[in-house]
Amino acid sequence: MKVPCTQTSTSGLRGEYEGAAADYSVGQDWHAYTPEMHERWRRLHARQSALVERHACRSFRDGLARLDCAGGIPRFEDANAILRPATGWRLVAVPGFIPDDVFFDHLAHRRFPVTRWIREEHELDYLVEPDVFHDFFGHVPMLLDPAIADFLELYGKAGARAMAMGALEMLARLYWYTIEFGLVREDDVLKVFGAGIMSSASETLHSIGDGQVPRLPFEPVRIMRTGYMIDRFQQIYFVLESLPQLIGELVGRDFGPIYEQWRAAPALPAGQCLPGETLIPFPGART
Ligand SMILES: [Fe+2]
Repeated sequence: MKVPCTQTSTSGLRGEYEGAAADYSVGQDWHAYTPEMHERWRRLHARQSALVERHACRSFRDGLARLDCAGGIPRFEDANAILRPATGWRLVAVPGFIPDDVFFDHLAHRRFPVTRWIREEHELDYLVEPDVFHDFFGHVPMLLDPAIADFLELYGKAGARAMAMGALEMLARLYWYTIEFGLVREDDVLKVFGAGIMSSASETLHSIGDGQVPRLPFEPVRIMRTGYMIDRFQQIYFVLESLPQLIGELVGRDFGPIYEQWRAAPALPAGQCLPGETLIPFPGART
């Protein structure tokens, strides 16, 4: 996942940082991928594609089809040839986690950092660090959606101020509960658009099919106050009524007063509902 508030250290993380540019970009070095790595990608892609058909939102399904990347680890330059004319985004290869300010700057300029290495055989379903499968399969299809494309640029531009105001965690939660673990209602059915869900088979089924986990309507301030855990299934999800709602409720909004009001307050525990909150009815998905 891209988790801005945990990107400040690269120590102990996988990835070859030596030789990276000042913005942490590197060459993808596509020819260095082994046949085994491409085969691993094909298996991950095939398994997840079966779930995508049933549970991903329309934009994700359409985007993945356009990227046509079932055959092996894709070349980022091929994806850029599709992305740039569509929404103005392009991919840059990175070694792994990158510092917050660098991450924000890439997004503010419509550059999406994609980790170049692929997970090992024993961690096919989930890993805390982002790899090329998470970053590409999970995120890149949604870069072709205009609302998500605009939101990510807005998010990148909001980063510096959040850092200056000591509110980075609040902003990071907004990313977490939308771009990583967001749900959207389509034709009255819950669908997935978050990359953290879409790149994990078990989290896909948990997010859509577990009747115990609370699902709340999208509300930016509520999200910015809600904590999260990075090493287990989510304990709460937030549901958009449409993807344009994401940008519609945030563009032109001054986050400053929100940060000032809530930055010193302890985060609400994930999974805890507040008095008066109305859950999204379950079953909301057809499995
Ligand atoms: Fe991610």
